[in-house]
Formats: sequence, structure tokens, C-alpha cells
Amino acid sequence: MTVLVTGGTGYIGSHTCIELLNANHDIVVLDNLSNSNRVVLERMEKIAQTKITFENADLRDHAALEQVFKKHKISAVIHFAGLKSVNESISEPIDYYDNNISGTIILCKVMQKFSVKKFIFSSSAVVYGNPETVPIKEDFPLSTSNPYGQSKLMTEQILNDIFISDNSWQIALLRYFNPVGAHKSGLIGEAPGGTPNNLMPYISQVAVGKLDKLHVFGGDYDTPDGTCIRDFIHVVDLAKGHVKALNYFEQNKNKDVLTLNLGTGIGYSVLELINTFQKVTDHNIAYDIVARRPGDIVISYASPELAEKTISWKAEENLEDMCRDTWRWQSQNPSGYEAT
Ligand code: NAD
Ligand code: UD1
Repeated sequence: MTVLVTGGTGYIGSHTCIELLNANHDIVVLDNLSNSNRVVLERMEKIAQTKITFENADLRDHAALEQVFKKHKISAVIHFAGLKSVNESISEPIDYYDNNISGTIILCKVMQKFSVKKFIFSSSAVVYGNPETVPIKEDFPLSTSNPYGQSKLMTEQILNDIFISDNSWQIALLRYFNPVGAHKSGLIGEAPGGTPNNLMPYISQVAVGKLDKLHVFGGDYDTPDGTCIRDFIHVVDLAKGHVKALNYFEQNKNKDVLTLNLGTGIGYSVLELINTFQKVTDHNIAYDIVARRPGDIVISYASPELAEKTISWKAEENLEDMCRDTWRWQSQNPSGYEAT
């Protein structure tokens, strides 16, 4: 089937495009390149050895979006496009709600007009707020404390309401834990603009010499080594989860919206990640333990059981694979996609 991938030149979108092509789907990539680069397309074409259809458009441009649906016979949409920084969302809430909420509503309107009703949405573990226990299951209470998280919760609600109004839609809300790693080719990976907010790109930029030292936010948490614990998941495993969700749509009639965690089910601490990265890459990561980062969740890891049971998906890559693949990408592309 032909899948429209919004945000398809972004970090997770680009890896998902490759897995869709591997599974013999046709794709149309739509992106406004606000947080990605045309070079990504060339890299994807190199990996997949095929030409990729690209639409340079903004999701909020209703007319342009209709043109895309007129031009291509789209059967399903995987929706990655949006803004994703928690901090930025606190200072720029209007932009976040506009991109993430208005953008999604316009997309749904156009899908409805063209009777395209298969929809996979990039949600996040951010919707669980600070969980009372771990592993986190899909039916845990939802809460959030920032506009980015609100935009994910609201979009989930909007999509649930669309399904209630018309249950011929097939909708999956995939809640990602902490995506890291890169494609094995070393050609595509995570390329944050400016100083990274997230842990893994920060570590890899210290390793490659772009940054001097990592600041570990908090060493006095109630965890075995005092640092926070996360469920790091390889981006290629995550990408495969989307293909599995599409397969599920083809083989089943949805009785409900499919709400699934995509994580490994294993929690590693910040120090465990640093140590594994050092071991696998043979590079020293200079770090200082500094004050806690406000708003940080102490321990977060998924119960991935429902995804395994429902769509037969399970993460396969371990922490060493994630570090090795991140390093291959970072060392081959010290400045990301810039200057290529
Ligand atoms: P990314 O920034 O690399 O990719 C998003 C892409 O969307 C970018 O290429 C950007 O140019 C494009 N885009 C943004 N607004 C657009 C618009 N209005 N119209 C068209 N294109 C637009 O981010 P990512 O890490 O690949 O994340 C993809 C999705 O997954 C996002 O929705 C994000 O919130 C969600 N998510 C990401 C993480 C993570 O850690 N990376 C975790 C949980 C959920
Ligand atoms: C953050 C976002 C979350 C988003 C996720 C995407 C916040 C509060 N949450 O989550 O909404 O879905 O990214 O992957 O921003 N750390 C350091 N030093 C650093 C960077 C991070 O010690 O320079 C620590 C953090 O304190 C945290 C852990 O590493 O304990 C992971 O941080 P990060 O990669 O930002 O992910 P999350 O906190 O899970």
C-alpha cells in the first residue's frame, strides 16, 4: 500500500521509511524541513536503492495537503511531523499547539475528505507523567506538565473521539519510550540542531569532540547508582513497530483504537548508558554530576507486553547495539547532515 509519512525526513520518520520500503510498501514523504535536511532523502535513497517521492509541504497548509492526497493514491498515514522539545514548548506554547494540534486536525480533515482512514500517530511516554510504579502499562493514569506533553495527550483524545464517531477508522497511538541509535549503514541518524537536550546525542557529541563534557543531571535519586533510569529503544526496532501496526490494520478490523507502548521493557540508568557507550566505542566520556533537571521522571520503563501480544512486535537490539550504531553514525557524520 502507499503510505504517507509526515515528518518523514526526521529522525524516526526516516528510519521508518526504510523499514516500510523493506516491507515493500510505497511511500510518499511529506516534510517542511523545519527540523531536517534534504540530504536525508538522498541518504534514504542510497540505503533503499530507489527513488523516493518527496513533498516539501507544511502540514498546516490545507490546500497543499489536499493536493498531495489528489496526486497520490494514499491508503494510510504515519504521522511523525511535529515539534518535540519539552523546554521549547514551555517558552513557545503557541507554536507547539499550532504545529502539533492544528497540523493534526488539518491532516485528519483531509484524510476524511479522501476517505483515508488508517492512521498511526507518534505519541510518547511523556503522557504517563511521573508513574507510581514500573513497568508502565498502557492503562496507567495519564498526566503531563508541559505543552509538548499536552499536545500528545490532546491528539490522543482527538483520535479517540474520531474513532468513536466513525469506527471504520483504524488508529494506532504508539507511545515511544527513549529512541536512540541509528541505521546500521551509518548514513542516517539523529542530528539535533544546536546543543542536544537528550542524553544519547549529548554523549555521542562528547565522544566525537564537539562537546567537552556531559552534565549528568542528578546523582542522588533513589535508584541503585543515584541516576535516573530510562527505557532506551533502538530507532530501527521502533520503526519496525510501525510496519507491524500497519500489518495489523490489514489483517484485522479495529475493535478499538490501538494504544501501545513501544519500549524494550528494560530500564538502564544514565551511568549504565555512559559506561556501555565507553566500553563499546572505546571512547572516554568526560562527565560531571550536577544538580537535578527540574521535571525529570526518576524511573521510566515500559511494559511492552501488549505490543507483543497484539501486533507481534518485540524490540531486538540491546544497549550495546544502540551505542555501537549511534557511534557509527556520529563518527561518520560529526556535524550531522550539515556540510555534506
Ligand atoms: P524530528 O524533529 O527529527 O522529526 C519531525 C519532522 O517533522 C522534522 O523533519 C520536521 O521538519 C517535520 N515537521 C515539523 N513540523 C512540521 C509541519 N508543520 N509540517 C511538516 N513537517 C513538519 O523528530 P523525531 O524525533 O523523528 O520525532 C518524530 C515524532 O515522534 C514527533 O511527533 C515526536 O514528538 C515523537 N516522539 C519523539 C521522541 C524522541 O525522543 N525523538 C519520543 C517520543 C515521541
Ligand atoms: C525527554 C523529555 C520527554 C521526551 C524525551 C524524548 C524532558 C523532561 N522530557 O525525556 O518528554 O519524550 O526526552 O526522548 O525533557 N540527562 C543528563 N544529561 C543530559 C541530558 C539528559 O543527565 O545532558 C539525563 C536526564 O536527566 C534523564 C536522562 O538523561 O535522567 C534521559 O534524558 P533525555 O534523553 O532528555 O530523555 P527523558 O528525560 O526521558
